[in-house]
Formats: sequence, structure tokens, C-alpha cells
Amino acid sequence: MRQVCRSADVEEGGRGVRFEIQRDGEPLGAFVVRYDGLVHAYVNECAHVAVQLDWNEGEFFDHSGLYLICATHGATYLPDSGLCAGGPCKGRALRKLEVVERDGCIFLME
Ligand code: FES
Repeated sequence: MRQVCRSADVEEGGRGVRFEIQRDGEPLGAFVVRYDGLVHAYVNECAHVAVQLDWNEGEFFDHSGLYLICATHGATYLPDSGLCAGGPCKGRALRKLEVVERDGCIFLME
């Protein structure tokens, strides 16, 4: 278990936090957001093309605060499951990571 950030750094339906994980010995971008009070983390890679979702660091939600959105071609994702709700990768999903919130901090389960 590794600390990712403080709970206060992740806004409900707003700014998220990027962090890095290791996959097969290589660094891989990831992020955590808050939706409906709960934190959700994903690999920061669109299911359409392997680019980061946020052009502007931490901006993962669309204007409604209900969907995650890829800044490149506008694919939208459900924040709690990572399933693509619309756009060029409909039917696919972000890769979910397990995180827990405890004592005012967010931790990645590794
Ligand atoms: S790269 Fe994300 S929608 Fe195309």
C-alpha cells in the first residue's frame, strides 16, 4: 500500500491527481478522481489511443462533473467504473486501479 495524495487534493467531480505506477518495470501514468464521495483510480491512458486523458494536469471531468473526458477526441467515461459512455472507444474501458481512502489520505493497493 502506497500513499498517492491527500484526500483534500481530489475534488468531488473536479480536479484529480496524477501519479505514477510501475508496470513490468516501466513507469506508467495513473490518476485518481472523486465521484459521489468515493475515490476511483485508473491508468491515465485513453481506451482509444494510448494518450493521457488530461491535457491540463488534473482536469479529468467534463463540464457537467458527471463524466471523465479524454481531451484528445472527447471520449467520455463513467467515473465509477471507467466504462466508455460515448466517443470512439464506446464499449471499452479505462484500466481501473484499486485505491482506498483512510485518515485523510488516498492509498494505492499494490
Ligand atoms: S485518444 Fe481519447 S478519444 Fe481519442
